This record gives sequence, structure tokens and C-alpha cells, in this order.
Amino acid sequence: MQAAAGGMDGTYNYKVVRQFAVMTVVWGVVGMLVGVIIAAQLAWPEILPQVPWLSYGRLRPLHTNAVIFAFGGCALFATSYYVVQRTCHVRLVSDGLAAFTFWGWQLVIVLAAVTLPLGMTSGKEYAELEWPIDILIAVVWVAYAVVFFGTIVRRRIAHIYVANWFFGAFIITVAILHIVNSAASPVSLTKSYSAYAGVQDAMIQWWYGHNAVGFFLTAGFLGMMYYFIPKQAERPVYSYRLSVVHFWALIFTYMWAGPHHLHYTALPDWAQSLGMLFSLILLAPSWGGMINGIMTLSGAWYKLRTDPILKFLVTSLSFYGMSTFEGPMMSIKTVNALSHYTDWTIGHVHSGALGWVGMISIGCMYYLIPRVFGRTGMYSMKAVTLHFWVATIGIVLYIAAMWIAGVMQGLMWRAVNADGTLAYTFIDSVIATFPYYLVRLAGGTLYLSGMLIMAWNVWKTIAGSRPVDAAIPAPVPVGGAAHA
Ligand code: HEM
Ligand code: HEM
Repeated sequence: MQAAAGGMDGTYNYKVVRQFAVMTVVWGVVGMLVGVIIAAQLAWPEILPQVPWLSYGRLRPLHTNAVIFAFGGCALFATSYYVVQRTCHVRLVSDGLAAFTFWGWQLVIVLAAVTLPLGMTSGKEYAELEWPIDILIAVVWVAYAVVFFGTIVRRRIAHIYVANWFFGAFIITVAILHIVNSAASPVSLTKSYSAYAGVQDAMIQWWYGHNAVGFFLTAGFLGMMYYFIPKQAERPVYSYRLSVVHFWALIFTYMWAGPHHLHYTALPDWAQSLGMLFSLILLAPSWGGMINGIMTLSGAWYKLRTDPILKFLVTSLSFYGMSTFEGPMMSIKTVNALSHYTDWTIGHVHSGALGWVGMISIGCMYYLIPRVFGRTGMYSMKAVTLHFWVATIGIVLYIAAMWIAGVMQGLMWRAVNADGTLAYTFIDSVIATFPYYLVRLAGGTLYLSGMLIMAWNVWKTIAGSRPVDAAIPAPVPVGGAAHA
């Protein structure tokens, strides 16, 4: 089963793919459970025992870190390792280093799960972890880059398939973002202060924050789209030329959009306008990519009727289209004046997070897990269909509730009486929001139930299986078939 690392003969390294795939499901359940808990806390603030480590302020970063870096991160590792091997016709360059990335990443997650509830935080959103964990992340990430690019260097297929371009850009950019934004002066093992001050600190943070969306939550997942949608639909990518334009336009444009998080702040006005302009431009590459993914189904639309895995993959693209239309609109200063600080932002986040990131990851895991565990398919396809509908209804409830609540809050906060005094107190808007928090909680609970169905189905699929690492095909002539 085991071939020498990067060996000429032998098999793909599926072991690390299996490990990351299983942990995607595990961390998905954990991260979303914490999401449901904090959604309940927003409705009923005293629902949990009043101890510091269960307070909303500490559980919220636990949720974001768990869903983005543990659930999303494991899905990205699993799929990128699978795709890079299969499209390059070569085993990962080092089994040892690949194993190190798995265990190292799990250690990062466990350390996050311990330190965040204890209140250890650098205070930067999506970059809360303290400096010793940041260093571990950097080391694991460099090892990931070595495994990924080392495998590309040793490829047996001349062409580098477009999915690998997206995975590669994601790996390089996240390394740069993380290292620059995490620069800090430690004052103890658990406390550090940012290397930047004032508005520069804010600018660096949101250059990081927005590109975390663009590269961690988007580029890598587009890599998944370009491999798994053609595979599951059994159709070639709609336009390979468009995919190349999509790639360069997307990575160039994302880099400049960060200031839309800092509208009406101390950031110079021209920088805010620049951020808005690039955010508006970003609509084009985002939709170009979405159209390329959806049109891949040309001639195979009928498969959507019967194939729940394809349903997950294609619906994820609809949500991607929705959130990348909404984002540019929210970046317009006058719109942002209404949406910022409200639940509209939370609705936008979760149409991207539950709809795009969640659904494409789930679809890819349903494709991948049976294959790497030596099964012909998931244990129950009916359960996959059920998961799809439960998740879709859950998302719609979640985001519709947040949109209505958000616009309502924004309008209430700016409403004034004839004499210029505020028409509503803040607490009026909180009371008015309560019913929408209940709807969000119901939607989130449905989405989590879907993950539990998935966990059961994955368990049944892999229990008693005899995992087989697929054989690497015989060499093909230079310039031969792009992917397998
Ligand atoms: C069962 C599913 C989920 C539920 C119930 C849930 C719930 C929540 C809640 C209640 C908040 C805090 C909102 C606030 O502060 O007003 C939140 C924030 C957030 N969640 Fe989720 N979530 C879920 C899944 C996810 C997933 C899968 C992702 C990412 C892949 C995600 C990413 C985020 C992010 C990035 C934030 C911070 C948003 C911001 O600061 O604007 N969530 N979530
Ligand atoms: C063309 C693409 C996009 C643009 C231009 C965009 C733009 C925006 C804007 C203007 C905000 C509000 C900033 C504020 O008022 O503070 C925002 C927030 C956010 N967006 Fe997007 N968005 C895009 C796509 C996405 C996607 C696909 C996702 C998720 C997968 C996403 C995740 C987020 C998150 C997590 C936040 C909240 C950040 C925070 O305050 O903590 N965005 N986005």
C-alpha cells in the first residue's frame, strides 16, 4: 500500500486525505454546534452558566476559528492533497511532511479550542490566536507549501491543471497574510501586542481579514469547484480560457478591497474609495468564475434531479453568486452606512459561509470519502438528499432572518423625530430583533442537524471499510491528459 515518497511506482497518498476528510466532518459538527450555542446566547443571554469561559465574547471567536480554520481548513487540506496528486499523476512529495501538516494543524485547532475560552487573544478578528500558536501555524503552513509545490514540481503531467493554480495562490497568500498580520511583540507566553499602531494596525488587519475571505474562504474553494464539479457532472470545465482569466482577475482584485471594512473610520478617505472601487470590480471575476462552474453542467442538467452530491456543489455556486453580488453592494459607502454594525453583515457572512463554503465542502466530502475508503458510494444516498434539503432550508431561514433584522436595525438607528432626537432607543432595536434571532437559531439548528446526518452517514460508510490507496496511472506522454 505504501509507496516510497514521491516514488515512481505505487500509489497516491490517500492516508492524509482520509485523515483530513474525517476531521472536516468532526470539526464541522463542533464548530456549528458552537454557532448554534452563540445564536441561542444572542436570543437568551443567560442561557449558559455565567462563567467567563462560556461567555459570548469568548465562544464567538471559538466558533469563527472552528468553522473557518478547523472545518474549512481540513476540507482545503483534504481536497488539495487529493487533487494535486490526481492531476499531477504523482504521490505527495513527502509522506512524513504531509503527516506533520495533519498533526500540526490538529494541534493548532486544539490549542485554539483551549486558549480562546480562557480569554487568551490578540484581539484581531480571525487572527485571535496568541504568538506561540501563530508561530506553529506558520511552520505548518510552510510545510504545507513544501508538500503541495514539491508535488507539483515532481509532476508527471506537463500541464498544471487550473484547480492547482487556485490552491497554490491560496497557500502562498495565506502564508503572507498570516505572517505580516501576526507580527507582534510578546510580553509573556500568552500575551503580545501588535507590531503596528493606530490606523495602520486597522489597515493591516483588514487587508488580512478581507483576503482571508478572498483566499481562505474563496480561492481554495474555487480550486475545489474546478476539480469536483467537472468530475461529478462528468463534463469538462465549461471554458478553460475563462478559468485562466478568472484566476488572474480574482487574485489581482481581491488584494485591494480590504478598506471596505473601514468605511467612515480614521482611514484616509481615498483609501476607503479605492477599497469600494475594487470591491465593485470584484463582481466581474466572481461571477465569471461562478458562471464557469454552473455552465459546466451544460448538457448534464438532468443529473441535478437525481444526484444530491451535484445538488450540493451547484447550489453552493448559487450562494457564491449571491454573496459576491451582495458584498460589492455593501461596499458602496452609502449602503455600508446602513449595513455596517447590523445583522445584515451577519446574513452576508453566512450566505457565503453556510451556502458557499459549507455546501461545496460537504459536496466534495461526499464525493471523496467513499473513494478514499475503498467504497463505491456513500452508505445512504437518501441521507445525502435529506442533508441537502435540511441544510438548504436552514440557510434560507438564517440569512433571510438576518437580512430583515439588519435592514430594520439600520433604519431604526437612523430614524429621527421632527425635533432631531432619535426615534428609537438602542434597546428598542434589540427587542424588535428578538423574533429574528429565534428564526436564525432554528435555521442554524437545521444546518447542524444536516451535519449530524452526514456524520452518521460517514461513520456507516467507513466502518469496516478496507481503505485502498489508488494506483498511479502509467506515464502519459508530455502534454497529455490534464487530469484524472
Ligand atoms: C450551524 C451553523 C452556524 C450557526 C448557527 C452560526 C451562528 C453564528 C452566530 C450566532 C454568529 C455571531 C453573530 C453576531 O455576532 O451577531 C456567527 C458569526 C460568524 N460565523 Fe457562524 N454560524 C454557523 C456556521 C458558520 C460557518 C459554517 C462559517 C464559516 C465557514 C461561519 C462563519 C462565521 C463568521 C466568519 C462569523 C463572524 C461574522 C462577523 O464578524 O461579521 N459560521 N455565526
Ligand atoms: C465580491 C465579493 C465580496 C465583496 C466585495 C464583499 C464585501 C463585503 C463587505 C462590504 C462587508 C461589510 C464590511 C463591514 O461593513 O464591516 C463584508 C463582510 C464580510 N464578508 Fe464579504 N464580500 C464578498 C464576498 C464574501 C464571501 C464569498 C464571503 C464568505 C465566504 C464573505 C465573508 C465576509 C465576512 C466573514 C465578513 C465580515 C467581516 C467582519 O466584519 O468580521 N464575503 N464583505
